[in-house]
Amino acid sequence: MGHGGDHPPIKNLAFPLADDKTSVIMTDIQALKSELTGQIEAANDLKALDEVRVAALGKKGRVTDLMKSLGAMDPEERKIQGQALNVFKDEIAEILKTRESLLQKKDLDSRLSSEALDVTLSPRPEGKGVIHPISRTMEELTGIFGAMGFSVAEGPDIEDDWHNFTALNFPPGHPAREMQDTFFLQDNPDSQGDRGRMLLRTHTSSVQIRHMETNTPPLRIICMGRTYRSDHDMTHTPMFHQIEGLMVDKNVHMGHLKGCLTDFARAFFEVDDLPMRLRPSFFPFVEPGAEVDIGYVKKGGGIELGRAENPADQKWMEVLGAGMVHPNVLKNCDIDPDEYQGFAFGAGIERLTMLKYGIPDLRTFFESDIRWLAHYGFDSLERP
Ligand code: DAH
Repeated sequence: MGHGGDHPPIKNLAFPLADDKTSVIMTDIQALKSELTGQIEAANDLKALDEVRVAALGKKGRVTDLMKSLGAMDPEERKIQGQALNVFKDEIAEILKTRESLLQKKDLDSRLSSEALDVTLSPRPEGKGVIHPISRTMEELTGIFGAMGFSVAEGPDIEDDWHNFTALNFPPGHPAREMQDTFFLQDNPDSQGDRGRMLLRTHTSSVQIRHMETNTPPLRIICMGRTYRSDHDMTHTPMFHQIEGLMVDKNVHMGHLKGCLTDFARAFFEVDDLPMRLRPSFFPFVEPGAEVDIGYVKKGGGIELGRAENPADQKWMEVLGAGMVHPNVLKNCDIDPDEYQGFAFGAGIERLTMLKYGIPDLRTFFESDIRWLAHYGFDSLERP
């Protein structure tokens, strides 16, 4: 659309003629574009790239110079060439931006690899973990009592005197409440009397109370967990584990108790004819109360659980405490003892485990010795 010399302006030109001013600028643009693109590609770091940018788009840059030449043109021309130049300027800016983000990424990558910090820990040499024998026994107990219709209940390790002692029919001056047996904690100022006297539970029998307070019979639960007593020697650790069992229903009697415990002991110790006997004993929360023994015989310097061929050779060892739930305990939980009876039992989980797997020393259970665990532990995929 330019007009040169004498000939009239040519309209609707498909491609501009050589002397057309548009084509002059277009040629400049093409040349400058390939020159600048080459420089941009050649810039190998952000600083070099910035120099190229200033030389092109800066105040005294090449593209800026071209823009300035627009001032000398007449308005019609300026409009067309200005548009072309603006497109070109944007193009260059875009190419610069693309190169810039590429260089930034390169910069980050090289810093990441040169300043790399290895935060991974090399694998521990023991390799595979195992199930602790206590956990294993708890799984077995869950399975055996589960098959007899018992579900698993839980209670807190930090108990109050009411659930651990009073509601279980311990009289106020009972020796078990004394400091040498029980770890007492700071009183809870929000609760009155024995409900505010806090302690670490000395047995899982407290869960009987919690369960009866919040459920109505018929009830069948076991509870397993940690218990605490101020004791430490060959056969006692300050923390140990117990299982508690409770059944409450109409017409429950000691026959049910003995049958249940016999089935349990035979299944757990895997001895079909394992004999069991109940000896009268005293626990405040049962009446009558019993200590439960299982039979064994001496054999080759060791012992073997089971019935002796000759009754004179039959030996007994205690494994459980049990009894019929004391009427006072039922009353403390708002259960009518004339309508319901129940039996309860409790045992030390370490003791059951030591007997079943022949582990000689109680204290080793809690020493976290990897070699001990590797020896007595269980594969996590093995079914109890
Ligand atoms: N709680 C008793 C203890 O820690 C064990 C026990 C005895 C639990 C008799 C019972 C039971 O449920 O009936 O020594």
